[in-house]
Amino acid sequence: MELGLKDRIALVTGASKGIGKAIALELAGEGCRLAICARGAEELEKVRVIAEGKGVRCVARRADVTDPKELKAFVHDVERTFGALDILVNNAGGALPGRFEQVNDEGLIHDYEVKVLSQVRFVRATLHLLAKSHAPRVININAIPGRVAFPQLFATTVNRAACHALNKTLAIELAPKGILVNSINIGSVVTPQWENIRNRLAPGMPMEEFTAERARGIPLGRFGTPEEVSGLVAFLASDRASYITGASIDVGGGSGMHV
Ligand SMILES: NC(=O)c1ccc[n+]([C@@H]2O[C@H](COP(=O)([O-])OP(=O)(O)OC[C@H]3O[C@@H](n4cnc5c(N)ncnc54)[C@H](OP(=O)(O)O)[C@@H]3O)[C@@H](O)[C@H]2O)c1
Repeated sequence: MELGLKDRIALVTGASKGIGKAIALELAGEGCRLAICARGAEELEKVRVIAEGKGVRCVARRADVTDPKELKAFVHDVERTFGALDILVNNAGGALPGRFEQVNDEGLIHDYEVKVLSQVRFVRATLHLLAKSHAPRVININAIPGRVAFPQLFATTVNRAACHALNKTLAIELAPKGILVNSINIGSVVTPQWENIRNRLAPGMPMEEFTAERARGIPLGRFGTPEEVSGLVAFLASDRASYITGASIDVGGGSGMHV
């Protein structure tokens, strides 16, 4: 399928590892020019080099998405370099495991800043650029928790529920400007985030064994890969998805017991 993404400009947050890295490289492979950020400059630079190896310009900037000044400076870089933006992918995030009584207010608020406020702020900061694009897209990488309550992931459930509401609200709010806003809800995808969880819960256990044990409740019986997410991002970014907005698409191998 010809996606027609060549020369579009895409900003991907949290693109140094895992799902964000796969999204950045997928879009680079489709010929998109890129702007990527993460807190760790070293890993980010490696992604920049791989992306540019695919023949596209890639701006990489160390930025914490919870810091409004760093976020604005990053968007300023994008504007200075490309003067435009077509695709915003809000991907940066991480897990704060724990039940209600294990998560304190500070943890919950920080998790809100990472997951919800960063999406709000990136949309605010890029709106003037997206509004000028002929095919503007906002793609939010969210989670199945939030559509379903996972008590063991209290912060994720509460804050991702806000992300789902944000996604729908923005889709309606920005529709008159032609900006399409969609959510991809991850179930369990093997990334460095899961390697950290494995290191904490079962140090030394091979990743395949660790994920196989945890995949018992997933209908497809396995974890996904970042590339099983990134193809959907490219599709939603493309003209082939021009009538899809406000959608919330699970990529979870059948996980999620909601209708
Ligand atoms: N993997 C899963 O099974 C799963 C499940 C549900 C939802 N998700 C969501 O999918 C997204 C990607 O997850 P992943 O598994 O690929 O995670 P990951 O492997 O931990 O990668 C996260 C990326 O985001 C960056 N990042 C984290 N916090 C940041 C911050 N405050 N500012 C800027 N960059 C930040 C990280 O780089 P630095 O650390 O260098 O900043 C990294 O590039 C996240 O939003 C996550 O919550 C994933």
